[in-house]
Amino acid sequence: MEVVKTAEALREHLNDWRNAGEHIALVATMGNLHDGHLSLVRTAREHAERVVVSVFVNPSQFGEGEDFTEYPSTLERDKRRLTRVKADILFVPEIDTMYPFGVDNATSVTVPALTDEFCGEFRPGHFDGVTTVVSRLFGIVQPDVAIFGQKDYQQQLLIRRMVKDLSLPIEIISGETQREPDGLAMSSRNQYLSDEERALAPELNGLLQEMGRGLETGQRNFEELESQAMQKLEALGFKPEYVSIRRAENLDMPHRDCDELVVLASAFLGKARLIDNIVVHI
Ligand code: PAF
Repeated sequence: MEVVKTAEALREHLNDWRNAGEHIALVATMGNLHDGHLSLVRTAREHAERVVVSVFVNPSQFGEGEDFTEYPSTLERDKRRLTRVKADILFVPEIDTMYPFGVDNATSVTVPALTDEFCGEFRPGHFDGVTTVVSRLFGIVQPDVAIFGQKDYQQQLLIRRMVKDLSLPIEIISGETQREPDGLAMSSRNQYLSDEERALAPELNGLLQEMGRGLETGQRNFEELESQAMQKLEALGFKPEYVSIRRAENLDMPHRDCDELVVLASAFLGKARLIDNIVVHI
């Protein structure tokens, strides 16, 4: 696997591959790769002959007081892991490549619907940062397909919407959430958990599963289910931001006859902000 730092160097490879009729997949990451990311790379390999993985910790998607400066960087380990799953190129752009006019003067991409609710409500500006940087990566790599994890459910829907709205010829593919044996969704931020918090963390998924079973067995008082879940999380020691039941396809309010719902949640446990979701077919 080759490590490439500039858009120009990357383009040489991309041109060669395209001329040979090969398809290109992009897996965008902020590094500190875990098995969830590696599974996205494996999914990418199923959809394209060539896989580019980007590692860029994007400042514009972090709010004030968030963990931008302490975001864990493990580039050497990431390289070894990506070599093992046979990524073709690791693209590690400098800040000037991604933001030639500086982060504050950057052209930004906003997807108006969906950005202010759920994670967007608690992380103002976060999704503008995500869609801005992903649109740049799409511009540089021009992939045929891009893989995003289902754990970041809202992010993935926003990116799908951006691609449709801007008529970008890129297929967005969803990668299944990878979990620890006890159900905790894999995330780079899990390493902020103390031992005690780590033991408690799977309760978040446990609660979503319990809500899922409730929905499957006919419960339809969505608000009650949500507020009971918030109370349970608080009682366990989490600081929940939201627990919401929505239509899986677009995060609209659900109605009794929907056949596919998503239960989304975000909660702090100590300094780790955990998010998770499950899709429920009813
Ligand atoms: O999901 C992430 O890791 C980031 O939001 C992404 C898509 C790499 C954009 O910086």
